[in-house]
Amino acid sequence: MDIFAKCRTDGGYFGMLRAAGDDFFVRPVLDPKPGRVMDYQGKSVVQWSINNYLGLAENEELRAVAVETARAYGPGAPMGSRMMTGSTPRHLALEKKFAAYMGKESAILFNYGYLGVLGTIQALCEPSDTILIDKLAHASMVDAMFMSRAQFRIWKHNDMNSLEGHLKRANRDRKGGVLIVAEGVYGMTGDVAPAADICLLKDKYDARLFMDDAHGFGVVGPTGRGTGELYGCQDKIDVYLGTFAKAFAAIGGVAGGPKEVVEWVRFNARTQVFAKSLPIIYVEVLSRALDFVADDHWRRERMWAVNRRLKDGLRELGYTVGDVPSPVTPVFVHMKDIRIAMAIIKAMREEGIFITGVMYPVVPKDIVLFRMIPTASHTDEDVVRTIAAYKKVRDDLNLDLEAVKTALDKGKAEVGKSEDSAEE
Ligand SMILES: Cc1ncc(COP(=O)(O)O)c(C=O)c1O
Repeated sequence: MDIFAKCRTDGGYFGMLRAAGDDFFVRPVLDPKPGRVMDYQGKSVVQWSINNYLGLAENEELRAVAVETARAYGPGAPMGSRMMTGSTPRHLALEKKFAAYMGKESAILFNYGYLGVLGTIQALCEPSDTILIDKLAHASMVDAMFMSRAQFRIWKHNDMNSLEGHLKRANRDRKGGVLIVAEGVYGMTGDVAPAADICLLKDKYDARLFMDDAHGFGVVGPTGRGTGELYGCQDKIDVYLGTFAKAFAAIGGVAGGPKEVVEWVRFNARTQVFAKSLPIIYVEVLSRALDFVADDHWRRERMWAVNRRLKDGLRELGYTVGDVPSPVTPVFVHMKDIRIAMAIIKAMREEGIFITGVMYPVVPKDIVLFRMIPTASHTDEDVVRTIAAYKKVRDDLNLDLEAVKTALDKGKAEVGKSEDSAEE
């Protein structure tokens, strides 16, 4: 059989989406300039789908830093991997700066958050070890798990009984170390891992915790330092990972932990050892961005204010909005079939409001989740316009907003909570 035969079918992961590919619902084509308002198919729309939590995507100073650095060093500097010729004093300084921000002894930069997750877990785990992974953990953690070739067990999403059961079973026939792997803020649904409880369990059962806080980094907690800060256990998270693609509005990732662990990762993470180093443009941009993230508390306050207004307005209209301690605002709507989700998205975009829908397996099959990301740059007027559009769509499409409640209750038994790889 021809290895390319599968490319001529509609199958494969995301096959259905590929078949429906129309540059509108799937892979919508947007102008690249990110912000609260964006150009979309010749029209200006209020954008609620980019993870520009603190509004740094529009920050003129960061743009100027990027331009000046590109002018000074060119777009590709430094050349080579960190191991060979790609390490600079600025990379080292930035790692120190991030380690201090994360409350960790040491830190290592990666070119993408994805590569940070992949490289760190692969470097730390080998076939004799066991990874215990939350059922809804991001694809990067799943891929890392396979890359490491460690044993693995899947625990029910955010369920401490399930995690404890797996810890007990993993310890029963333990041959190596045990690594618990979870997100901090779950980026699709906005719910947050019970980090303090996970830390108690990992200590009780002599395991370690890797937390990917892509959506919490710079965002949640009293000073925005993430899920560990939110639950007062940042010092207990053994390896904490943040990405720069969200609150920092740039590219890259960073993993922080004990010095010996970070040193080990530095020399064993394949995605770092065998890849070109993070471009100096981003190193300079991130150094400045970190000042904004750490010091400008008004950005987070503004983001939360937008978040509250949006949530309150949508709830008043009868929409079901997830009650989560993160700014990710999940709006759940029941759908008899996918055409309802498509009609809502289309109608909202016609009203100049850009939203995207998330479907199964993140939510049950008969639910669509509109994942709204309020940012520090949205205006009160943006919120008012958006709520008005949701109202119009509710009335024009005659949406049954009550039906989702039963569907969600039923669905809890199906998604996230359901699959548990446990065997007694
Ligand atoms: C939880 C989580 N981890 C990792 C990543 C990958 O991060 P990056 O886009 O920086 O590669 C993402 C991005 O979607 C994410 O949501």
